[in-house]
Amino acid sequence: MARHLITSAIPYINGIKHLGNLVGSQLPADLYARYLRARGHEVMFLCATDEHGTPAELAAAKAGKPVAEYCAEMHEVQAEIAKGFRLSFDHFGRSSSDQNKQLTQHFAKVLDDQGLIAEVSETQMYSHADGRYLPDRYIEGTCPNCGFEDARGDQCDNCTKQLDPVDLINPRSTISGSTDLEMRETKHLYLRQSQMKDQLDAWIDSKKDWPVLTTSIAKKWLHDGDGLQDRGITRDLDWGVPVQKGDAPWPGMEGKVFYVWFDAPIEYIACAQEWVDAGKGDDWARWWRTDKGAEDVTYTQFMGKDNVPFHTLSFPSTILGSGEPWKLVDYIKSFNYLNYDGGQFSTSRGRGVFMDQALEILPSDYWRWWLLSNVPESSDSEFTWDSFQQGVNKDLADVLGNFASRVTKFCRSKFSEAVPAGKPRGAREDQLVNDLTAKLREYEAHMETIEIRKAAASLRAAWVLGNEYLQEVAPWSTFKTDPEQAAMQIGLALNLIRLYAVISAPFIPDAAKELREAMQSDDDSWPSDVAAALEILPQGHAFTVPDVTFRKITDAEREEWQERFAGTRA
Ligand code: MF3
Ligand code: ZN
Repeated sequence: MARHLITSAIPYINGIKHLGNLVGSQLPADLYARYLRARGHEVMFLCATDEHGTPAELAAAKAGKPVAEYCAEMHEVQAEIAKGFRLSFDHFGRSSSDQNKQLTQHFAKVLDDQGLIAEVSETQMYSHADGRYLPDRYIEGTCPNCGFEDARGDQCDNCTKQLDPVDLINPRSTISGSTDLEMRETKHLYLRQSQMKDQLDAWIDSKKDWPVLTTSIAKKWLHDGDGLQDRGITRDLDWGVPVQKGDAPWPGMEGKVFYVWFDAPIEYIACAQEWVDAGKGDDWARWWRTDKGAEDVTYTQFMGKDNVPFHTLSFPSTILGSGEPWKLVDYIKSFNYLNYDGGQFSTSRGRGVFMDQALEILPSDYWRWWLLSNVPESSDSEFTWDSFQQGVNKDLADVLGNFASRVTKFCRSKFSEAVPAGKPRGAREDQLVNDLTAKLREYEAHMETIEIRKAAASLRAAWVLGNEYLQEVAPWSTFKTDPEQAAMQIGLALNLIRLYAVISAPFIPDAAKELREAMQSDDDSWPSDVAAALEILPQGHAFTVPDVTFRKITDAEREEWQERFAGTRA
């Protein structure tokens, strides 16, 4: 039994996430956590809401609520939806927690003690009407290069030229529209990541087994252009962790907060402290401090590719630079993007399916199965209603669901609702055990290396083996000539339903539970020995016929949903 710490990138607080967000970190992280628990390992699976930053402030203003209140409400909303998708976090924390505030201020202090913080004076656009400094992307104006009138402060979307807000002609605030802007001198803290470059480079080089997507992005940031740049870690905002050196004020930094990307990953640690403070456990340090037991923890992070620089460079700079014995990540699993029906998911345009809507139309397992078996692992992938319908109808309804329903109904009608007494098993059954064993070992190997599509394919293949067996031995015909032979076959198949429930649970936990309950078995031990696992339900063991485990998606539904989710969510 090993100890595994697993974190998913923490979703921004502003708004409900779409399925592309879900499949890019939380869902695969949950799959892995569930698998490792099923194998008997000790798992700490953490996630939280990412609550600071300008988007949160603006979303709150739009909702007409104080930002703290807005965040508290949205946290509950996201927590409920996460439950709906059966995301099995040990704790779902909040980056605005007191624990994270303390820890963020602590890291700033120790990084400063290590000489890794620089104070830099810069000029920034101040908006009198808004009473605040404006981040670059909240300033628009006319592009000096092409004359496009809605160029953003950081880039012109028309000619793609990179811009500085001062370059814009007639700059205005996108928050209020005001043009009463002034360039002001303001001081900020920078994390001197450039000092850490060689150390980070060597560390990334040592990670031979990491996905190429992860290492290639890290390498690009380390080596492209002038190499790894220092990063501003403070902002002139109201909402965030106040800039302090531990408990002490930071002269000259009054009224400023840490940049959201500085405090967000620190929440991974603070979340474990929140878990303790919520009474769910009593020792967070054994997961996070290598001087307190975390040296034998394996730490795996899950995230979308846009998050990779922050997890391979910035957060490790914080951890390593502190000089304190914090647990550093062991494996970073990153994902490409999931597109939606010929375009992109878009939160701003309400394009695609959002997590709450998904659960309104179908149970979470349908989504979990399609999303995980089509996860954008080696390249971007695409959600289409056609592919979704096929995945659900073929894999879940025709293969797994149908197997369970045929076997149990046949047994009920020809024998009883109990495992029937039959003849000894023969060569065909030995062959099935061998084939299943091979598939299962394959499945386990893919899960160990977190190759999710391959794992899904192996699982599906294991389901297919059962169907092929049933098709071939055809107990419904055998029954006519040799009922005891048919009884043996059906007894094996009933045992197979329980086995499928156990191995499928990481992907489709609700259906797995339903199937195992129908088999009236508490035994969810992993079938390390397939032959033995197929003897767990003895002759005479009672079962019930499960309700329709998976229903099919009709063509009419597919068309209706395609139409409904094409754009502009209210
Ligand atoms: N909120 C970010 C996003 O959705 C992810 C933050 S991950 C963490 O892209 F490392 F900062 F925690
Ligand atoms: Zn332009």
